[in-house]
Amino acid sequence: MSETIKSFLTNDHRTCDEEFANLENKVMSENWQEAIKLFFEFEKQIKVHFDMEEKIMFPAFENKTGMNEGPTQVMRMEHAQMLNVVSLMKDDIEKKDKKHFLGLSESLMMLLQQHNMKEEQMLYAMADAHLADECSLIIEKMKELKRD
Ligand SMILES: [Fe+2]
Ligand SMILES: [Fe+2]
Repeated sequence: MSETIKSFLTNDHRTCDEEFANLENKVMSENWQEAIKLFFEFEKQIKVHFDMEEKIMFPAFENKTGMNEGPTQVMRMEHAQMLNVVSLMKDDIEKKDKKHFLGLSESLMMLLQQHNMKEEQMLYAMADAHLADECSLIIEKMKELKRD
């Protein structure tokens, strides 16, 4: 079976999860030099993921379904909320505040898990159903964004 919006973005969630786990490990072992490096990698990864959704997939879904105030709006709000936590995590790395960082990273993990579950179980499946004929073009555009 060919690639779907669901399979492509779900795989990208897994990549973000791995980056996040690596970052947490470096903070746990107080390897601050590596931690800041991995922080920037994770931050880039998650921002590109949110951009692929907000700039490409969500608008295509909204145009097709006319659902502008529905699930995509909720997802956008959750992205903003998570990016806020991510930026606070950076402050903690700079201050080498392991305990506070781990509190934030636990919150982020919960938010991210719930968010990704909603996307993977509902939104992505809806997107594949509604956007069946444009699916490969949308995936191609998302990949372009990732390459930038
Ligand atoms: Fe999302
Ligand atoms: Fe996502």
